[in-house]
Amino acid sequence: MDLFDSLPINDTGLTAEQEIKALREELREQNYKYYVLSAPTMSDREFDEKMHRLQELEAAHPELFDPNSPTQKVGSDISKIDSFPRIRHRYPMLSLANTYSREEVEDWVRKLPPGVEIVAELKYDGLSISLWYEHGRLVHAVTRGDGTEGDDVLPNIRTIPSIPKEIKNSKFKINNSEVAVPARLELRGEVLLPWERFEALNKQREEQEEPLFANPRNAASGTLKLQDSREVARRGLTCFLYYMLGEQLPGKTHYERLELAKQWGFPVSDAIKVCKNVDEVMAFIAYWDTERKNLPVATDGIVLKVNSLAEQEELGYTAKSPRWAIAYKFAAERQLTLLKQITYQVGRTGVVTPVANLEPVQLSGTMVQRATLHNEDFIRQLGIAEGDRVYVEKGGEIIPKIVGKERPTQTLPNRDGEDSTDFSFPKNCPECGTPLVRVEGEAAWRCPNELSCPPQLKGRLEHFVSRKAMNIEGLGSETIALLYDKGLLHSIADIYDLRAKDIAAQERLGEKSAQNILASVEASKQVPWARVLFALGIRMVGETTAKKIAKRFRSIDALQWASKDELTGLEDVGEQIAENIVAYFADMRNLEIITRLQAAGVQLASSETEVAASVPQMLEGKTIVISGTFSEHSRDEYKQMIEDYGGKNSGSVSRKTDFILAGENMGPAKLEKANSLGVRLVSEQEFLQMLHG
Ligand code: IVH
Repeated sequence: MDLFDSLPINDTGLTAEQEIKALREELREQNYKYYVLSAPTMSDREFDEKMHRLQELEAAHPELFDPNSPTQKVGSDISKIDSFPRIRHRYPMLSLANTYSREEVEDWVRKLPPGVEIVAELKYDGLSISLWYEHGRLVHAVTRGDGTEGDDVLPNIRTIPSIPKEIKNSKFKINNSEVAVPARLELRGEVLLPWERFEALNKQREEQEEPLFANPRNAASGTLKLQDSREVARRGLTCFLYYMLGEQLPGKTHYERLELAKQWGFPVSDAIKVCKNVDEVMAFIAYWDTERKNLPVATDGIVLKVNSLAEQEELGYTAKSPRWAIAYKFAAERQLTLLKQITYQVGRTGVVTPVANLEPVQLSGTMVQRATLHNEDFIRQLGIAEGDRVYVEKGGEIIPKIVGKERPTQTLPNRDGEDSTDFSFPKNCPECGTPLVRVEGEAAWRCPNELSCPPQLKGRLEHFVSRKAMNIEGLGSETIALLYDKGLLHSIADIYDLRAKDIAAQERLGEKSAQNILASVEASKQVPWARVLFALGIRMVGETTAKKIAKRFRSIDALQWASKDELTGLEDVGEQIAENIVAYFADMRNLEIITRLQAAGVQLASSETEVAASVPQMLEGKTIVISGTFSEHSRDEYKQMIEDYGGKNSGSVSRKTDFILAGENMGPAKLEKANSLGVRLVSEQEFLQMLHG
């Protein structure tokens, strides 16, 4: 039996119309979370199942047709923040019909005209990109967007070494005739973050207390939307191309074009096979179902395409996908096991995370006995409680998750959580007993006792000494826990009161480590103000934000008196961060810690040399839009200059825009908007004069 069959069947008690409405809303929201936020809260499988259910219902109720239904549209990855130029696709960027059932794949192949060849390829699990070449030069790299328009993320795509920036127009052959690169050419493919890079990135983010990416796809998508191409380059994206488009292109088959793309120097996978019949297709699927686990990048299925371009044309398209292709998706491995107990973990930021303790079960080669339950809503949505038998799944994510529970009658997981009467989330912190709080709009319960709840305290200490913060060596998590238990370390200020004899008296430590630790503590007094600010561990103030704040507020005294408005005026500082900073300084206990750090000689202000070396903040508080082309510097250089001089870049003209740095051939839409809002235009020369006098 296919796993799919064992899944619960609908029994929601809703009318078809209500169910359709609910599914459309839910899928729309998931599309937004998946494509825009890069943070889905539903498994791909569940999403696909709901999409199929909606398709089924819509087919049975044509009177409820809606052209805006998620079944009629591809999800949109266009970011709400207007930071990349928007470009209209020359050819719509469609998605693929998909199935988890091998029988359906066989049916699809059998229904094709007899004798057609099928190209079988891997389905790479990243995000799609369209590369535009004009006269052999890469000129745009557009994300799928809503299928009609996407974001041009060219600077970020240019960081991928395997993507040619220019196609060398050397002689290549197709069917023995030489082929020149067409004037206009489009190649589509998938941008990916290899597993190894993904794991390294998450490790780094964990150290810096940044939210982790659930899988390489989300990480790749988050990376491609970054404004800083240097950071994109560091992360190490990669790409595979699988589709060539254009007018009057050479070749009569899809395979020939891929071969040609390969000869032109494009990264095309070797895992491609031209299949002559259904058996060859099924053999390809069976082979890669296991072999894909050895690949350096994530794949989630197989794509089958009709090879002949003439046949493709004949078969045509639906609103959403070509009829000449289909995706077979690999099922994530799933097991049923007992949920023995739900325990609660308090993280270093005070978030209380429920954890499922399971009867150990073998899943994709590893023994699974614990899985995160994320938060209260997640548990309620699944309707699970201790003693239930639950499904555990390991898909594209490395962490196993619970996806549902076994039900006596086969019903869909109940979304309103009515049946989870046996479950109640704790009211008090399991570590320190403080009543938990739930911030409006957040899913997590949090222990507010930041300064004395043990895991939070230890977490703060670990963060304070970490490499990117105060870089104090010899104080690893175990040593911190030990010194904490012995009453020697309770706050970050205690670090500067540590005495050699107290450290040396501890088991496993001794004279030598005591001396090393104290030498490192001493050296930390030279750490510059920006890093000290990061080290304080104010919630959501990461390394980059701390740098920006420290540049504007040159001492802790100045920062202490900053208002929320002054803070939100800085780039990267939103309402929430500003509130956290204000709240931090409103707490007497923090002020006491700061006084002690100051007395110990920690740098709580920029040194004279730092101030002298810094660039004057002439554009401070100014929001500037760049438009057009320039002769003295590149657009990216101007963007950087604006930031260096304290200004803020913005992609779109609004009332908040202070002026437009206008080059040649400024976009007509921007010009019109600027005129209607009365926004000033500043020429390149005027701008340079503004900065350099
Ligand atoms: S062909 C018109 N081939 O899967 C056909 N797509 O749901 C366009 N994908 O948006 C797609 N590997 O991001 C094709 N070998 C492959 C693929 C592939 C991954 C992605 C692509 C597409 C999605 C379809």
